[in-house]
Amino acid sequence: MNPTVSEVEKEAQAQLKDIGSREDLEAFRIAYLGKKGKLGELMARLKTLSAEERRDWGREVNRLKGYLEESLRTLCESLPDASTSEGNFDETLPGIRPAVGKLHPISQTIREICRIFGRMGFAVVEGPEVETEFYNFTALNISLDHASRDSFDTFYTDSGSLLRSQTSTVQIRVMEKNDPPLRIIAPGRVYRPDTVDASHSFMFHQIEGLMVDDKTNFSELKGVLYWFLRELFGSSTKIRFRPHFFPFTEPSVEVDIQWGDKGWLEILGAGFVNPKVFEAVGYDTKKVRGFAFGLGVERIAMLRLGIPDIRYFYENDLRFLRQF
Ligand code: PHE
Repeated sequence: MNPTVSEVEKEAQAQLKDIGSREDLEAFRIAYLGKKGKLGELMARLKTLSAEERRDWGREVNRLKGYLEESLRTLCESLPDASTSEGNFDETLPGIRPAVGKLHPISQTIREICRIFGRMGFAVVEGPEVETEFYNFTALNISLDHASRDSFDTFYTDSGSLLRSQTSTVQIRVMEKNDPPLRIIAPGRVYRPDTVDASHSFMFHQIEGLMVDDKTNFSELKGVLYWFLRELFGSSTKIRFRPHFFPFTEPSVEVDIQWGDKGWLEILGAGFVNPKVFEAVGYDTKKVRGFAFGLGVERIAMLRLGIPDIRYFYENDLRFLRQF
């Protein structure tokens, strides 16, 4: 016996009550609305009916179809989503925090130093790490047979270029292209023929500064460095200037800060730009004067952050890096 529309409807209503999961719902949908489903069977019977009967039959089947589709939609919304572990989703649990990276302590220190000099009007300039002998030595008044060249001779390429041993090279490049007045600082990597230990590395970071105009004097050099060091290490930091020698500055100094019971610690080199350096870049030595300074970023970061060994910076150990 073929069931009538209302028989199918009653049967469906009874089954709808028992649906408790998405799988039940899908099985129901296939049984009634699927290709070979019960509704299709009802529709197929149209052709066995007379023209009059057809109209009523068709209307009834369509009504039932609408009712079933609507029931399915409502149930679908009220049933738990399979992807939230069968409804055990607890929205009060804390979320999963995405891992957010941060800057390496060396980068943090470079940014901090650049920020301080930026407030004094110094622009940040970068230059190449592979340099010619002209920029690394000759223009800086370091002659071929100069004693200080031994500690600066780094890794040469076949074409005679070398890894720069100081970022003073950038000062030469800037002066070649620009006329004074100038105020720049040059952060970057430098290379030295040093044996690695707790305080030395064959590669480290430097920041060098240069200020050139027609009237700058030694008090200004002292003023700039005092302000910088007190911004960095605290306003009560004690600072000392000691005479020193650098081929590219004359007179030259080394600057120390007092560091707890460790006494005086050398923190940077500085001096008035040697006229020979101005000659190398084509400046008129009678009209321009300026000062330069250079410091090691690692040394400053180690002091400020209390890091005992320079090698920690380069080992990429997250247990170390996460502390800063
Ligand atoms: N270039 C020097 C060094 O690497 C530092 C320095 C820079 C000294 C500029 C004086 C002037 O040690």
